Amino acid sequence: MNTTAIILAAGEGTRMKSKVHKVLHTLCGRAMVDYPIRTVRALGVERPVVVVGHAAECVRAHLSDTVDFAVQDKSTGWGTGHAVMSAQPFIPADGLVFILAGDMPLLRVTDLERMRDAVETGAAGAMLTAVAGDPTGYGRVLRDETGAVSAIVEHRDCTAEQLGVKEINASVYCFRVSALLSALPRIGNDNNQHEYYLTDVVSILRADGLRIEPIVVPMEDCMGINDRVQLSQATKVMQRRINERLMRAGVTIIDPDHTYIEDAVTIGQDTVVHPGCTLQGDTVIGSDCTLLPHCRMSNAVVGDATTVEASVLIDCRVGSHTTVGPNAYLRPKACVGNHCRIGDFVEIKNSNIGDGTKVSHLTYVGDADLGKNINLGCGVVFSNYDGKRKYRATVGDGAFIGCNVNLVSPVAVQAGAYIAAGSTITEDVPGGALAIARERQRNLEGWVEARKAEGKL
Ligand code: UD1
Ligand code: CA
Repeated sequence: MNTTAIILAAGEGTRMKSKVHKVLHTLCGRAMVDYPIRTVRALGVERPVVVVGHAAECVRAHLSDTVDFAVQDKSTGWGTGHAVMSAQPFIPADGLVFILAGDMPLLRVTDLERMRDAVETGAAGAMLTAVAGDPTGYGRVLRDETGAVSAIVEHRDCTAEQLGVKEINASVYCFRVSALLSALPRIGNDNNQHEYYLTDVVSILRADGLRIEPIVVPMEDCMGINDRVQLSQATKVMQRRINERLMRAGVTIIDPDHTYIEDAVTIGQDTVVHPGCTLQGDTVIGSDCTLLPHCRMSNAVVGDATTVEASVLIDCRVGSHTTVGPNAYLRPKACVGNHCRIGDFVEIKNSNIGDGTKVSHLTYVGDADLGKNINLGCGVVFSNYDGKRKYRATVGDGAFIGCNVNLVSPVAVQAGAYIAAGSTITEDVPGGALAIARERQRNLEGWVEARKAEGKL
């Protein structure tokens, strides 16, 4: 059947107490509203209709032209029913229509499939319900003696007896278009909030003798996010799902409760992730890697069989069979090859490090191109900035740069050159040469005794 989806995102979300629109708050690297959109796309609805109102520009800017937008005009009414009326021009004349809230990121594709099946096999509509431990705030599902849903009553409108009902309305529906369109104009706003409640569609259709199939799903799937406490609870569930998906695909996660991996991250088989790692954005980790505790990576691409420990990698690439850290900092456009060693307290930015090159300790490499099999000693600094402009340096294959060397860019060290420890290199070094650029050492024999004799020490 022809299928449409409407996602409600016009509400103010006042309970978030935020400058940011509720549905744009993120969980595991994606905005809340991105999840229901992805879920309906999995059912073949490429361009869902998103109902915007409050802070509409921000929601539009985030989703750009990937969806259709319906605008809910507050001056003509309010409430979830009114929001759906605003989307009416986008609803085709026949088929099915899903209605979801933008604040329910944990909904599963299979939940929607069950609703669609119910409608395709004869029901006028289907709705998701769940049994809540604490139903406070949710609309309650009232059933008659046959088990059919007779009405949904909002928490605010419940009698004392109805407040005791644990089955809640998830606020996710699938209707036959004809049934929805016949009920919408009959929704009133005679309730505690003087809003047009979409929930009234259920009792209206029932009065018409039509059947709305209740589909009970785990409470977890239909958790609505209204405040930051619920945001953190939903994030935990989402994180568990991501980690379980990765573990089932062959990734070892030592302690999933303390491993933070965003939704778009990919990790290859037999990689082991230790506690305290945070993997963000479009990070891609190959197979057989070991991520030791406390790594943060954002948009990092790492090859196979590489080990990283307690390091920060941002917008950078690292090859295979390389080790990084502990405490290395790879900044944007750091590109490290295969079989490299990037050791402790090394910072690399906008630089290429060729295969087999070792940068073992306490070094800054900025705006440089390093060839293969180079050894950088401890404490090498690429002086790439003169206070006004940045300059590049190059180091050829097999060069050996001693400890505590400054390379003042722009400068070129050719293949196989050696640089003596403590040198400040301001001029190019030819291949195979040894460059020494430091004060020659003098030893003043007996200096200490003489000073003491003068009473100056
Ligand atoms: C709604 C349901 C309630 C259900 C609960 C589940 C109604 C009347 N109540 O209540 O039965 O248990 O969800 O989470 O439907 N929105 C608009 N325009 C509006 C009002 C809301 O677009 O005029 C959007 C909001 O942005 C939000 C969604 O609809 O994404 C739900 O609105 P919200 O105010 O959170 O409804 P609840 O009070 O949670
Ligand atoms: Ca809600």
